[in-house]
Amino acid sequence: MTNLHNSKVGIIMGSNSDLKVMEAAAKILKEFDIEYEMSVVSAHRTPEAMMEYAKNARASGFTVIIAGAGGAAHLPGMVAAVSTLPVIGVPIKSINSIDGWDSVLSILQMPAGVPVATVALDGAKNAGILAAEIIGTFDESVASKLQQYKNALKTKVQEMKI
Ligand code: RP5
Repeated sequence: MTNLHNSKVGIIMGSNSDLKVMEAAAKILKEFDIEYEMSVVSAHRTPEAMMEYAKNARASGFTVIIAGAGGAAHLPGMVAAVSTLPVIGVPIKSINSIDGWDSVLSILQMPAGVPVATVALDGAKNAGILAAEIIGTFDESVASKLQQYKNALKTKVQEMKI
């Protein structure tokens, strides 16, 4: 494996009201020393900007895209439709959501040929870890940080007292 230190994750969300959920992805990427850029891009309200973002994502230097949206959540799927980068979708239980299922199903049930790796409802932390794992397939320093993270998870459980 080679160390490539120029990986960058694009974190996008449909509204700044999604930030309270999506910041967990940024936080964990920071822990792994992975560069990221966060932006608000709405599939329904700024469709041209979304297309522009998705079309240029690879050229902009992104390795993975994490896209979060609530309600009728088309952002991750539409970005995946245009970009050849891996897209991780975060369903968000937003204020306009019935109970979160609308967002989960919109992001999860993609047609064959256009995958979105969907994490749990409000699961932005796991989206960040999954993005790191993708980068860790070719970046040894990230792989080693992920191993330390897994070790810490194990120790935490082993030390649990009941
Ligand atoms: C979605 O609608 C956004 O991703 C957000 O989760 C939800 C509500 O947006 P705002 O009304 O708060 O801007 O498109």
